[in-house]
Amino acid sequence: MSEGDLIYLDNAATTFPKPEAVYRAADAFYRAYGGNAGRGANPLADKCAQLVDETRVLLAEWLSAPAPEQVILTPSATVALNMAILGADLRPGDAVYVTPFEHNAVLRPVEHLRRTRDVRVEEIPFDRRTWACDFSRLTAAFQANPPALVCVTQASNVCGLMPPVVEIARLAKAANPRAVVVVDSAQTAGLYPLPLGDGLLDALVFSGHKSLYGPYGIAGLVLASDWRPAPILFGGTGTFSESVAMPDQLPSAYEPGSPNVWAVAGLKAALEWLRETGREAIVSHTLELTQALRDQLSRIPGMNVYAPPQDAPWCGILAFNVEDIPPQALETALGARGIAVRAGLHCAPWAHRWLGTLAEGGAVRVSGGWFNSEEHIAALMGALAW
Ligand code: ALA
Repeated sequence: MSEGDLIYLDNAATTFPKPEAVYRAADAFYRAYGGNAGRGANPLADKCAQLVDETRVLLAEWLSAPAPEQVILTPSATVALNMAILGADLRPGDAVYVTPFEHNAVLRPVEHLRRTRDVRVEEIPFDRRTWACDFSRLTAAFQANPPALVCVTQASNVCGLMPPVVEIARLAKAANPRAVVVVDSAQTAGLYPLPLGDGLLDALVFSGHKSLYGPYGIAGLVLASDWRPAPILFGGTGTFSESVAMPDQLPSAYEPGSPNVWAVAGLKAALEWLRETGREAIVSHTLELTQALRDQLSRIPGMNVYAPPQDAPWCGILAFNVEDIPPQALETALGARGIAVRAGLHCAPWAHRWLGTLAEGGAVRVSGGWFNSEEHIAALMGALAW
C-alpha cells in the first residue's frame, strides 16, 4: 500500500492533503523569494513583508477580526494559547474557568497558573444527558467565584461538541466585566464565525494547519477586544531596534523573531482557496459525511459512539469504541487496512473523563474534511465489519 492509497480520516490532527495551491506556494517560496520579512528593505525582504501583510489582511477577513494588526502570528496554536493564558493578569485566589473539553494546550498552562500563581481552577458544568452547558449552575458558580479568566474551546477535538461560547462569555462578563474570555478555535477557526470586536470575546486562537488547510508552523491569536495580555516572548521585531523594550504597536508587540514566511506563503494560498471554496460548502460536506458515519456506527451492536445528541451543536469529529477492543488496537488494525484515524486520549484527558472513556485508554476518533468522500466512509464501515 502506498501513502497515496491511504484513506485519511484524521483531519482533527491536521488536515491532509492540502489544496494543490498550498504545495505550489510553499515550493515557490524557497525557490524564488525566500528572504526574511520586516528585516531590512532589500527586494526579498520587501516581498516577504508584503506577503505577511497580505496574509494578515486575508486572515482578518476570514476570521472576522476587527483589524489586521489585531491578528498576531505565532508558530502554533499552543504558543498562542500560552501567550493569552500566561499573559492574563491573575492574582492568588482568582478563578479560572475551563470547559471539560479543553485540550492540554489550555489545561497545562492553566495548571501552571494554579501552581505558580495560586489561581483556583473551576470546571464549567455540562449536562451529561443533553450535553448542554448547565447555565444555572454556571451562573451560580460565577456569582460565588467571579471569573477572572474563562477558556472555552469552540469545538472539542475529541467528540466535536461545540460549547456555547457566546452565551458563556456573556454570563462571564455579566458576573465580572473585567473577565477575560479566550476561545480555542484550533479545530474550527473560520468555519463557524464568532462575533469578534464587540467586546464579548477577548482572544481567539487559530491554527493554520487544521481548519484553515494551510501548512504547519503558522497559527495565531486574534486580540479581539481592548484587552492586551502581558507579553511572554521578547526579541527582535525589526522595528524600534534602538530600544531594548518591546514595541507597543500591534502586531510587533507580540511577534518577536523571524516570522515563518514559508508557512505564511502556504497559508495565504490556503486562505485564497478557502475563499473560493466557501465555508458553507466545507462545513456541509464534512458534516454530511460524518453524520452518515455516526448514523451507521450507532446501528452496530457493541459499538459505543460518543457524540452529542442530534440537536446539540457538533462539528463532525466523532469518537467511538468497540466493546472489548482497546482503541489503540483498533487504530492499528484500521491502519493496516489503509485507514488513518487517531486513538487514545487526544491530549484532552478531561474530555475523556467526561465521556467516561479514560479507563479504557480513550477512544478511536474519526475526523473528516473537504478531501474525504462517501467512498472513504464506506471503506471505514467495511473495515469495521471484518
Ligand atoms: N490536537 C491535535 C489532535 O487533536 C493534534 O489530534
